[in-house]
Amino acid sequence: MSCTVVVDLDLPGPRISRHVYGHFAEHLGRCIYGGFFVGEDSDVPNVRGIRQDVVEALRAIKIPNLRWPGGCFADDYHWRDGIGPRAERPRMVNSHWGDVVEDNSFGTHEFMDLCEMLGADAYISGNIGSGTVREMSEWIEYLTRADDSPMATLRRENGRDEPWQVPFWGLGNEAWGCGGNMKAEFFADLARQYATYVRNHNGNNPYRIAAGANAGDYAWTEAIMKSAFQRGGAAEGEPHVPFQGISLHYYTMSGNWSDKGSATEFSREEYYRTIRKAQHIRTLVAGHSAVMDAYDPQRRIGLVVDEWGTWWNVEPGTNPGFLYQQNTLRDALVASLHFDVFHDFADRVVMANIAQTVNVLQAMILTDPDTGALVPTPTYHVYAMNVGHHDASALRVTLQGEVPVGESDGESIPLLSASASVAESGGSALVSLSNLDADGEVTLVLDLRGRTVAGHSATVLTAPDLATHNSPEAPDAVAPAAFDGVRAHPKGLEVTLPAHSYVTVALDLA
Ligand code: AHR
Repeated sequence: MSCTVVVDLDLPGPRISRHVYGHFAEHLGRCIYGGFFVGEDSDVPNVRGIRQDVVEALRAIKIPNLRWPGGCFADDYHWRDGIGPRAERPRMVNSHWGDVVEDNSFGTHEFMDLCEMLGADAYISGNIGSGTVREMSEWIEYLTRADDSPMATLRRENGRDEPWQVPFWGLGNEAWGCGGNMKAEFFADLARQYATYVRNHNGNNPYRIAAGANAGDYAWTEAIMKSAFQRGGAAEGEPHVPFQGISLHYYTMSGNWSDKGSATEFSREEYYRTIRKAQHIRTLVAGHSAVMDAYDPQRRIGLVVDEWGTWWNVEPGTNPGFLYQQNTLRDALVASLHFDVFHDFADRVVMANIAQTVNVLQAMILTDPDTGALVPTPTYHVYAMNVGHHDASALRVTLQGEVPVGESDGESIPLLSASASVAESGGSALVSLSNLDADGEVTLVLDLRGRTVAGHSATVLTAPDLATHNSPEAPDAVAPAAFDGVRAHPKGLEVTLPAHSYVTVALDLA
């Protein structure tokens, strides 16, 4: 079988925002508590209660932004409960996630402290479902205002003099579901209203993101887009667009919502079904983009895929409300596939946030509840291998010849996925190649056109089995390694990808 991957190195396309490599941390299970935040008295090394090993691991993959406090939790969260002396903070019930009591010991100051440690931009998800316009308006004033306004004064009283920067602001979450069970038109009006009061203080004009659709609900996107470009009342002239982004949520599972499938025990059939469902993200991004294009051909509004990733049955013996799952090489391939799509749609997809960063769903990091040991997941390594794509320009990639195909539930699915980018400096490029074949290697020609390639190096992520995963006992069972399956070829390079592998080829351009 002969397959060629053509990369036009001299035709840089849209910029791939580093923010598509964003993350999400909710008050859910052991993501915040135990994952990020252990408290000052913990035996786990911490600074002001925040785990430094987790911070270091995320800094290493250049985490660009962090979405918080939810998720569904966001529309139950009242920010004033999470400021001031910890011992005096009110408690609440986290009804969505385990029905546990939340003591609010991790609140606004702790989150912003975490973002500063990470060097990441804050993406705050505001409460529309059970909050008020005033509450949201005062939160951004509290965070970002410099003078002696009431909220800036309150912030100072709580120990923070300088305002923070909050570049991203969410207007509700899953308003069609846990965020209020609203109808699209009703929410569209609320999003306009709330966005108006998310003020620009001191030049911190946040990128406002309206809660968007669930998977293939194109009617939701249409309703929000239509509303965004309507004038209010008798106003004349260009419509004032109240928000800059619309979100999209899509989760990959091999089963269905009542039985999502095991994270670590799956058949070939379940594996290929997972890949087919992960590949569906292309249809969804294309579909929502097409709806948005009809209202916004200039692309003033961005698509923000602020929840995506695998969702499996929880690990046996763990709290079903905590969404703790293992993470195998299969998860890594789901991630690499998503990034190929985000790169291809770089002119519309401005941000994406995998769910969730630590100990929940498709996590970067798992921590042992007993020993505190940190384990990077296979998905973490895909993020590490892709740092070169951050803020680079997407390159057109064309698959030619006999592209390997597989089958899932009667549908044909491509077993090779690829994308590429050229760095802003123009001096290097990065090619991503995923071989999704569970059992067979594939040899392909990388036809590198338009520039002279002066050198290359390659990295591979694979493992003996698709279900191989990392654990405290074997933290590097799945880890990137230098790859020697790349050879010179008259057209560029020839690459033999091992079965079920993710490979990046870094190119030095003359
Ligand atoms: O990520 C877990 C949950 O999934 C989020 O809280 C919610 O937005 C989505 O349904």
